[in-house]
Amino acid sequence: MEAISVIGFAIAVVLFFLFKSLITPSKPKKNLLPEPWRIPIIGHMHHLIGTIPHRGLMELARKHGPLMHLQLGEVSTIVVSSPRWAKEILTTHDITFAYRPETLTGEIIVYHNTDIVFAPYGDYWRQLRKICTLELLNTKKVKSFQSLREEECWSLVNEIKASGSGKPIDLSKCISQLITRIISRATFGKGIKEERVFKEIVRETIRLTGGFDIADIFPSKKFLHHLTGQRAKLTKIHNKQDKVIDSIISDRIQSRSSSSQETLLDVLLRHKDEAEFGLTSDNVKAVIFDMFGAGTDTSSVVIEWAISELIRCPRVMEKLQAKLREAVKGKERIEEEDIQDLMYLKYVIKETFRLHPPLPLLVPRECREPCVINGYDIANKTKLLVNVFAINRDPEYWKDPESFIPERFENSPINIMGSEYEYLPFGGGRRMCPGASMGLANIELPLANLLYYFNWKLPNGGSHDELDMTELFGAVVQRKNKLVLVPTFQDIVDGSS
Ligand code: HEM
Ligand SMILES: *[C@@H]1O[C@H](CO)[C@@H](O)[C@H](O)[C@H]1NC(C)=O
Repeated sequence: MEAISVIGFAIAVVLFFLFKSLITPSKPKKNLLPEPWRIPIIGHMHHLIGTIPHRGLMELARKHGPLMHLQLGEVSTIVVSSPRWAKEILTTHDITFAYRPETLTGEIIVYHNTDIVFAPYGDYWRQLRKICTLELLNTKKVKSFQSLREEECWSLVNEIKASGSGKPIDLSKCISQLITRIISRATFGKGIKEERVFKEIVRETIRLTGGFDIADIFPSKKFLHHLTGQRAKLTKIHNKQDKVIDSIISDRIQSRSSSSQETLLDVLLRHKDEAEFGLTSDNVKAVIFDMFGAGTDTSSVVIEWAISELIRCPRVMEKLQAKLREAVKGKERIEEEDIQDLMYLKYVIKETFRLHPPLPLLVPRECREPCVINGYDIANKTKLLVNVFAINRDPEYWKDPESFIPERFENSPINIMGSEYEYLPFGGGRRMCPGASMGLANIELPLANLLYYFNWKLPNGGSHDELDMTELFGAVVQRKNKLVLVPTFQDIVDGSS
């Protein structure tokens, strides 16, 4: 008796739902973007396992199109891989996608997303961008740091000379230290004793920020962030970093009057507690973190990749060195004026940016309302990745896209971005990098110095095409193996022995 009633109940339930589904109209079907095959929970993550993300994504886009959807864990993501779609999204849909996804790094390291990189689109971000473009990173400010760049380059040249011609040196380390010193002096002023500690902290944070970690693909599963230890690690780093910046700031406040040059920190402190747009101390510290986080490795890896490409391409190396030595005319020390019209150096740098954009997927963005792109329905909170690595190598826009040919930029109007969005090392739209002129200045002079005074070869008589070019993915893509080269000192200086 009882059994029958259970079966009867079950039948009634089934009939009820059947009936209900017949009378309620089914929702209009959403028009969804193409995507590869997916599996439960992790979605499409398995397609990226074992790949370097920007390369894996480029392969997937070849099969599924330049505008595709990926489910990365619980995060719905669209991946743009062609100039045409980059242009469409970074113009027509730029505001919709002007937000950043929430990340542990943004929350813990940069004081609840109050820096520029992670700040959500809105008034606060707009005000910071304004300070940035008008006072921190504009060409006049960048120019004001010319002599400190020249001094720091000169001291690296002397260090290399002193290390003795003919011995291999770790160029990756030299370049990274040089850029850190330049940024540190521009930000804090001369003689900061915590400079190296601070840079280590930034480096550690960047190492922990890949964009494809558990916390990134399961942002709502807070317990996982504890379980993986990521939250604890970042919190520990943050506390250390906070103390270091505090002590740098209090030193600076005491010594400010005695120094003539206004550092980036001085500019920010001027805005602190002001009536109109008062920054708090945490805001100041968050922006300071950006200057290091966004401004050091991005530049140093480009110098490393440029020298790597030049080693592999002796034709270009010889041509550039000849032009450089002609332009500097045997002067003992290079000044920026000597190289400002040296177009071939600029082409070499542009070509390096094309093949090795330091942020190949830019910085992820996110929409905060549902939208429709080309007839496809995009849900609220969809993440956007723009694969500029793939875009910069698009064969429809670039002839012989995989080869290093600086001459391709001769007579080309491309400056820091391509008008057809075929060249995007600094991104595009409202979130585009505000630090491009600072970054370029920090690349041009160091590269010129390293190539003017020295000739470089591989250790143990290695042939130029043996140089390994494997990439290491991270917040900034760098060489997997350090760049170790042997310098020989070129006696090009006029009148010197
Ligand atoms: C030279 C190498 C550099 C490259 C390749 C580079 C590239 C980028 C890219 C791709 C973005 C993200 C754009 C987007 O989301 O669409 C970005 C953002 C940013 N960069 Fe740079 N950058 C460089 C140097 C610098 C320097 C030297 C600074 C400052 C000292 C800087 C400060 C920033 C800031 C603050 C943002 C965040 C902008 C925002 O979200 O509104 N960058 N950069
Ligand atoms: C989109 O999501 C955000 C964050 O959860 C929310 O604040 C916003 O109201 C949503 N927008 C719409 C139009 O649903």
